[in-house]
Amino acid sequence: MAERVRVLLTEEEVDARIKAIGEQISKDYEGKEVHLICVLKGGSFFMCELAKRITVPVSLDFMSVSSYGTETKSSGVVKIVKDLDETIMGKDVIVIEDIIDSGRTLSYLLEMLKDRKPASLRLCTLLDKPDRRVVDVNIDYTGFAIPDEFVVGYGLDYAQKYRNLPYIGIVEFD
Ligand code: IMP
Ligand code: MG
Repeated sequence: MAERVRVLLTEEEVDARIKAIGEQISKDYEGKEVHLICVLKGGSFFMCELAKRITVPVSLDFMSVSSYGTETKSSGVVKIVKDLDETIMGKDVIVIEDIIDSGRTLSYLLEMLKDRKPASLRLCTLLDKPDRRVVDVNIDYTGFAIPDEFVVGYGLDYAQKYRNLPYIGIVEFD
């Protein structure tokens, strides 16, 4: 099946929003250090751009998870495919995600990270699809709330494609 990608958020809009979130985080964490945890692979483009905009000291770590369940519906039980390299105990942690959809993956992940006793734990997502929420998740920093459409770009994929688009687009099928 052929698909097309229609621009939803331009590169300029995304970059401007990331700059603003970076400034907000820099203010909120003044006098502290911030430890960013990127949820691979989708969060990687966002985390790199965001980290460049943060002016307090930043350290980075990466985690990869997959949710048990069918292809289209996450069960909420998350398997850690790649765990963090470093401890988060006592650190001011921000989890960086590409998109919050049902909320299942992140609510599970946040509970698990809380058990590791960080000094603080916040969530930052580039995109939020509030209409799709099944499990409540408290989001501290949101790039954009978007309608219930399947989107790609800026780290988000369709069948592993389009992650490298510098904008956010809606996938349309012919
Ligand atoms: P959930 O919040 O547990 O339903 O899962 C969120 C995950 O589903 C995200 O981290 C993405 O990997 C994936 N996802 C949800 N919506 C989209 C989309 O519109 N495009 C690409 N991936 C998506
Ligand atoms: Mg993801």
